[in-house]
Parts: sequence; C-alpha cells; structure tokens
Amino acid sequence: MTGPVNVAEYEALARERMEPGAFGYLEGGAGDEITLRENCAAFERLRLLPRVLVDVSHVDTSVELLGEELDHPVLLAPTAFQTLAHPEGELASARAATQAGTLAVVSTMSSYRLEEIAAAAPGPKWFQLYCYRDRNVVRAFVQRAEAAGFRAICLTVDLPRVGQRERDLRSGFSLPADVRPRNFDDVSPTDVADSELFFRYIEGLIDPSLTWESVEWLRSVTSLPVILKGVLRADDAARAVEHGAAGVIVSNHGARQLDTAPATIDVLENIVQVVAGRVPVLLDGGIRRGTDVLKAIALGASAVLIGRPYVWGLAADGETGVRRVLELLGNEIELGMALLGCPSVADVGRDYVAGQEIADY
Ligand code: FNR
Repeated sequence: MTGPVNVAEYEALARERMEPGAFGYLEGGAGDEITLRENCAAFERLRLLPRVLVDVSHVDTSVELLGEELDHPVLLAPTAFQTLAHPEGELASARAATQAGTLAVVSTMSSYRLEEIAAAAPGPKWFQLYCYRDRNVVRAFVQRAEAAGFRAICLTVDLPRVGQRERDLRSGFSLPADVRPRNFDDVSPTDVADSELFFRYIEGLIDPSLTWESVEWLRSVTSLPVILKGVLRADDAARAVEHGAAGVIVSNHGARQLDTAPATIDVLENIVQVVAGRVPVLLDGGIRRGTDVLKAIALGASAVLIGRPYVWGLAADGETGVRRVLELLGNEIELGMALLGCPSVADVGRDYVAGQEIADY
C-alpha cells in the first residue's frame, strides 16, 4: 500500500493515531467554526490562470526570507504541545523542517525546552512568544531564545484571551500529566489540576493588557527581528511597520480565536498594499495544497506557514511524516509553478490569480 498522496490524507491517519480529546484540540476552531471552514473555502474560490509557452525546464521554488535561504516558501507555524501527537514532538518537527530546507517557528508552549529543540535541530529556527504577565519572564525567554540560536521572535498578538473552542469544552480536554510547557519549568509551577480546563490554564499565563507599547518594549530587549503574528487589518499592519516589526504574519490563529473573522487569504491583498514591500508579509490558515501556497504568493505573501497539516504528519509518522508533508507541498508547488508558467517564485505575480475581490476589510 502506498502512503498518503496528499496532505489531507494525513488527517485521517492522525485521527486514528491520536487520543480523541487531543485530536479535537488539534482540529478545532472557535465557536461555530465558520472561520475554520472559510480559511479553506476562500482558497477554493480562487482560480489560477496559467500562462503557456514559458520555458519551465528549470523551476526554482526557493525564496529568501529575512536573511534565510529556504528551499520552498512553506514554514512550520508554531503549534503548542506537540507530544500530544508524537513522543518526539517538537524535536521531530524542527528536525524535519531543517531536513526539508525550511524553518520551524517553535511555540513557547512547546512540550520540550527550547534549548533541547535547538540542540536537536541545528538549522534556522524562529521562536514564537506569547507575552506573559511577568515581563521578567518574557525577557528571560527572549534571552534564552537568543542564546539557543533562534533567529527571530514571532510575537503572537491575537490571543489576549483564549477563543471559545467548543470541541475542548465538550470533551473536557485537559493536558495529560506528562505534557507540560517545559519552558516554564524554572519560572513558574507548571502543575495543572487534573480537572483544570486547558484554556483556563493557558489564560492564566498570558497578559491580556498587551498594547503597541509592549511591541516597542520587546524590540528594546532583543537584537533579533520581531515579527507580529495574528494581524488581519490593514491599519494594524501599517502600525506594525511603524512600530518596527520586521515582518507581519496574516493569521487568524487557525480560526481558533474570534469566530467569523475573515479567511486570511481574503485580507492578504489589502495588507500587502499597505505594507508596500517595507517588510515581508506571511500568511497562515487553511493551506492544504501547493496551489494554496501559489495563490498566497500571487496575492503578495513572501511565504506561508502550515499548522495542523504537519501535526497530522507528526502524529502519523513522527519526523518522517512531517518531512513527507513538507515534501508533498514542495512537490505540488514545483509542479504548480511549471503548469502556471512561472520558473521562479518571483514570477508568481498578481495576474496569475483570479476571483479575488478586494473587499472592504
Ligand atoms: C496553534 N497556533 C498557535 N499559534 C501560536 O502563535 N502559538 C501557539 O502555541 C499555537 N498553538 C497552536 C496549537 C494548535 C493545535 C493549532 C492547530 C494552532 C496557531 C498556528 O500557529 C497557526 O496560526 C494555524 O495553525 C494556521 O492554520 P492551519 O494551517 O492549522 O489551518
């Protein structure tokens, strides 16, 4: 029997392998999951317009992003607690990213310490930060990330509170005893009462009073580029650039925060216009195919990130599964570029995608 031939087929394998509560935590979105469906549906509504009779005997999927040379424009988005999917968790996914010639953005809520992940996967990595109530803790995380060789900080700005994830409420999902945010081991007790709902636990750690001043403060305590993750509005993207962000990630947190927020691909173009090439604009949410990646690139993204798809690969087959998911997407991008008549990623311009109306976002 052959293995999965596309990313979606890994989802079914993950469902079989994972404990149902943990799988629900991975899959779920907020509220009625309208945004969750929309993230994928919005890609499906777009059409790609191929150009013919272009020499595509050599297709180059590589991109340069904030000084990193990547073999293709798909990064691993930060996802928390990856040992829920596989015992090797973040160690395996970060290694797979390096092997696939791309980079992982490692969540602060990882189930291994950031130093262990850096040691396991020596390739380029970025560190995702939630801003905690105690700024000394934040400063310590940043210093640890710098010392461990992480090359950028991704500050997630769309989680002042945890969204209403009803699959978790229904299942009563709480972290198993052996899965903990190990980065917190030295700074705060990480015990969770057995009955404590997962989201309450996370909410207790995160500072809901974060503002643009906090972005300035973060920049003042690190020499690493600071990228803001979770921007959906053009005016916020403009402010991000004014406040010195080195990049913006257009994201609705995989539809896990505010339900009925727009699909990320629908707001991308307005954000790209406002940012006007000053910093790279990335996108995540609903990327399941190489053609989705090409649509995002055509609408101005410098690169994209995937969340759930690589965790499906991780659950199915550890490091090999994550690598395979990246390989499937990389192959689809390469074939898509050939069929589109675009030998390089820079060729994938606005005129290759149709059906996108700039709505009043
Ligand atoms: C996430 N996401 C996330 N984001 C973040 O900044 N820090 C985190 O710790 C997490 N944790 C997390 C856990 C799980 C299980 C999921 C599914 C998502 C959001 C993630 O980085 C990304 O924005 C979305 O997953 C992208 O959407 P897709 O690719 O899952 O559709």
